[in-house]
Amino acid sequence: MESSRLFSIILFLYTTVLSISSINCTENNNLITNQAALFVFGDSLFDAGNYKYINSSSAFQSNFFPYGQTTFKFPTGRVSDGRLITDFIAENAWLPLIPPNLQPSNGNSQFTYGANFAYGGAGALVETNPGMVRDLGTQLNSFKNVVRSLKSALGEAEANKIFSRAVYLFNIGGNDLVYPLVANSSLFQSNTKENFVDFVIGNTTSVVKEVYKIGGRKYGFLNMGAYECAPAISILDTTNIGSCSKPVAELIYLYNKKFPDALRRLQRELSGFRYALHDYHTSLLERINNPSKYGFKVGNMGCCGSGPFRGINTCGNRMGQSYELCENINDYLFFDSSHLTEKAHRQIAELIWSGPPNVTRPYNLKTLFQLN
Ligand SMILES: *[C@@H]1O[C@H](CO)[C@@H](O)[C@H](O)[C@H]1NC(C)=O
Ligand SMILES: *[C@@H]1O[C@H](CO)[C@@H](O)[C@H](O)[C@H]1NC(C)=O
Ligand SMILES: *[C@@H]1O[C@H](CO)[C@@H](O)[C@H](O)[C@H]1NC(C)=O
Ligand SMILES: *[C@@H]1O[C@H](CO)[C@@H](O)[C@H](O)[C@H]1NC(C)=O
Ligand SMILES: *[C@@H]1O[C@H](CO)[C@@H](O)[C@H](O)[C@H]1NC(C)=O
Repeated sequence: MESSRLFSIILFLYTTVLSISSINCTENNNLITNQAALFVFGDSLFDAGNYKYINSSSAFQSNFFPYGQTTFKFPTGRVSDGRLITDFIAENAWLPLIPPNLQPSNGNSQFTYGANFAYGGAGALVETNPGMVRDLGTQLNSFKNVVRSLKSALGEAEANKIFSRAVYLFNIGGNDLVYPLVANSSLFQSNTKENFVDFVIGNTTSVVKEVYKIGGRKYGFLNMGAYECAPAISILDTTNIGSCSKPVAELIYLYNKKFPDALRRLQRELSGFRYALHDYHTSLLERINNPSKYGFKVGNMGCCGSGPFRGINTCGNRMGQSYELCENINDYLFFDSSHLTEKAHRQIAELIWSGPPNVTRPYNLKTLFQLN
């Protein structure tokens, strides 16, 4: 594989940002504990800027123009032009922006409304991007630290109320599925694809069970989006540039077939466990294939990047490489080679928040937030 291409694919996996956060730490100090908090776990789709607090020397940053130019007007740590799905969910739930867990603390109660543990490039498996990310298990450990500090700040009973009322939102697994295909095929030599997908799902549900033990009862999940057709992935096969990747699609379909069963099993095993599962694969593919139906002009090409479909992730002169930026971000579904625009995030967030059961089921997030 040509090195610039490998690089752009690795960027698909990392996608992280460094910058000053727009979030005012002091905002979270007013305790309104009858409001359900939001705890977020996952990868770059949900990362509100954790990576920047750990690795300031990484080559995989996005703390530069044009990231963050919509809404925030400067790069915030989000891999998009603006707000993420999780920001819109927080807005709908009348919560402040949920701060990155690694944001320096200004008091023990800064996470009363929730915390965001998501990390660009992360997977459910420790083998995914080893040494470069905080995998889901590490994110769980960070959550446990927040649990301890909230208990000591608010007292056990008050803190437990927060954990049982809270909604826990997860998006993880995409990097696990893509990583062996683009970076380490030996992961498929000792396991069948089926086993591999079971590991990804098993490691995700183990973390959910740990959160349940702490008191978490309400969960939100996305199934695997149609990443097989993302610009970065659709240029992988040089003999068929612009078509959705069959090997990636194969894994994603396997995952999306098995994941709902795993959630139903959890619901049977864990009393009081309730969840929302959004069919992100369908909602993303619909928009890729019919952009104009959803107010976009372009569905299969990034706004920012270079090469065919702007599928090479040079957005913002990454690594000194030149790039193109579209004129009107609002015309685009994808902002860079694999991440969506704020406009797209808003639409997906609405579907997760209040979508009908054929889109988000068995509950939607609005209902989960309202449940006591
Ligand atoms: C943060 O919010 C507090 C309270 O609303 C305000 O007093 C303070 O000036 C704000 N700080 C920044 C940097 O915006
Ligand atoms: C920081 O980034 C560098 C360069 O990408 C990488 O080699 C190193 O492992 C990273 N360190 C951590 C702690 O993530
Ligand atoms: C690939 O994965 C295998 C199995 O986990 C591991 O032993 C090996 O070190 C990995 N290779 C690279 C280059 O990361
Ligand atoms: C988690 O993933 C590892 C491989 O990283 C695998 O050995 C293990 O069985 C998985 N755990 C579950 C519960 O699926
Ligand atoms: C869901 O159902 C509505 C009608 O209730 C329909 O308009 C919509 O196309 C359906 N969406 C999907 C993804 O099936």
